[in-house]
Amino acid sequence: MAVYEHDVLVIGGGLAGMRAALRAQELGADVAMVSKVHPVRSHSNAAQGGINGPGLGEGGGPWEEHFFETTKASDYLGDQDAIEILAREGGKEVLQCEHWGVVFSRKDDGQMAVRRFGGMGKARTFFVGAITGQAILHVLYEQLMKPAVHDAMRMYEEWFVTSLIVDEGVCRGAVAMNIRTGELHAITAKATIIATGGLGRVYEPSTNALICTGDGIAQAYRAGAPIMDMEMVQIHPTTLKGSGVLITEGARGEGAYLLNKDGERFMEKYAPKMMELASRDVVSRAEQMEIDAGRAVDGCVYLDMRHLGEDVIKEKLEEIYEIARDLVNIDIAKELLPVLPGVHYIMGGVKTDIDGLTPMPGLYSAGEAACVSVHGANRVGANSLLDTLVFGRRAAEHAVPWMQGKTFKPIPESVVENDRKMIRGILDRPTNGDRVAKIRRDMGVSMSANVGLFRSPDKLVAQQGELKTLRERYDKVGVEDKGSVFNTDLLFHIELGYMLDCADMIATSAIERKESRGAHTRLDFPNRDDENWLKHIVLTKQPDGSEKMTYIPVTITEFQPEERKY
Ligand code: FUM
Repeated sequence: MAVYEHDVLVIGGGLAGMRAALRAQELGADVAMVSKVHPVRSHSNAAQGGINGPGLGEGGGPWEEHFFETTKASDYLGDQDAIEILAREGGKEVLQCEHWGVVFSRKDDGQMAVRRFGGMGKARTFFVGAITGQAILHVLYEQLMKPAVHDAMRMYEEWFVTSLIVDEGVCRGAVAMNIRTGELHAITAKATIIATGGLGRVYEPSTNALICTGDGIAQAYRAGAPIMDMEMVQIHPTTLKGSGVLITEGARGEGAYLLNKDGERFMEKYAPKMMELASRDVVSRAEQMEIDAGRAVDGCVYLDMRHLGEDVIKEKLEEIYEIARDLVNIDIAKELLPVLPGVHYIMGGVKTDIDGLTPMPGLYSAGEAACVSVHGANRVGANSLLDTLVFGRRAAEHAVPWMQGKTFKPIPESVVENDRKMIRGILDRPTNGDRVAKIRRDMGVSMSANVGLFRSPDKLVAQQGELKTLRERYDKVGVEDKGSVFNTDLLFHIELGYMLDCADMIATSAIERKESRGAHTRLDFPNRDDENWLKHIVLTKQPDGSEKMTYIPVTITEFQPEERKY
């Protein structure tokens, strides 16, 4: 068994991971980054509409406004100490990206252009057409590729983490498979940062890439780290029917309308002031109500971009133009685009403090995998990229001084052997007439049906039963590919295990929260209940395998909860 040793191990090669790795390396640490895909294939790539730039000159607007709007959009579940940091430090990160070479869209006078996003009182979102995530991801990767950085850092590209290494309550790295050989190794580290992104594929359909399988959240849970706010799953208002591909909120930010089948701008009824740019949870619910009331066509409402004109569309929303043309054969400059609400983001995740540190010494988390919590019950659009950069950097800035003076402890061979045994178990099993892909699909479809936008106790309980059945099937199913080289069949199997853990946590927390707040709408408890539920739900796996549920009060520093009106 090869044992690799590093000061800081970053798991995940998306924006949070890259930002953490860059900063840790800059601070002089010996850094390693492990990613199950080539880093520029990470899901940060898919972020379309922009990144908020609070406090960044005229465009970003005062950071205090962003602080309030993010808190309000979170339906007051976001921790205000963390949101204040996001708002205060966010602008600097956007500027840093610009200095590194991100070619932000510009106004005619050369200033960086902004557009308005949902839940924001003014335009404060910087963007690169509709490929903002991709543009930033590639520029950060360039920074990692600079010889001075690259030569000092170890990149485990296309390595797949199978478990965290925890010894006497301290995280000491991870066991990972080199996908090219199938061999397992211990990568030991004084500090480990989970930046593995979200879990959107626990649902079908979803705007998320196929790789968004909740790996880091499940690994942290299995290792005994607390997981928070898992019931808070964001449903984006505009996704394409069938594929679930994202149609950026930036389209509405540029002035697109939502219409029902009668051509009515229905948001007038639900959010008369902010209309299509009300908070995401509000717009998604409004659409679903229109759809449920039969004012839809084929289960979709329409996004109308025709009045924006071909020039604006091609300049600012070119990628949306191409998606609509290539996937559904619609010319958005001339025709209405059918859209519907779809799963997009998990506000919950690995519980951390404002420095990315989890309650487990040596373990940090940042980005979508983490729950700081800056998004609370509903994330403001264009805050996800901001979150990755601010808290990826902060995790590194805490981890590097923390690990100074710490030493490596030898890792017993049994740690890796346990995971080898788990893998042999999967490979030795016959398929038993079932398929990993089939179980995954059944999980995703049932999660969408039972733990989606509108939640009822009977459906939530039914889903818990369904998840139990799915797990029984999972425990029996094998894989067809028995080889060791690039065995994606095997990886899909392990990923499904992570997803089932996440699905269980979502359903458990959704049953527990007996109120409606942000993205979590209970038909039997239609109102927000600050008296009883202004608190986070935390799930922690105990050493005996049982699960403990606890509550943490929300941190309120500036803004007392009030009714949200848009
Ligand atoms: O609609 C969008 O472009 C999504 C952005 C986000 O989720 O932050």
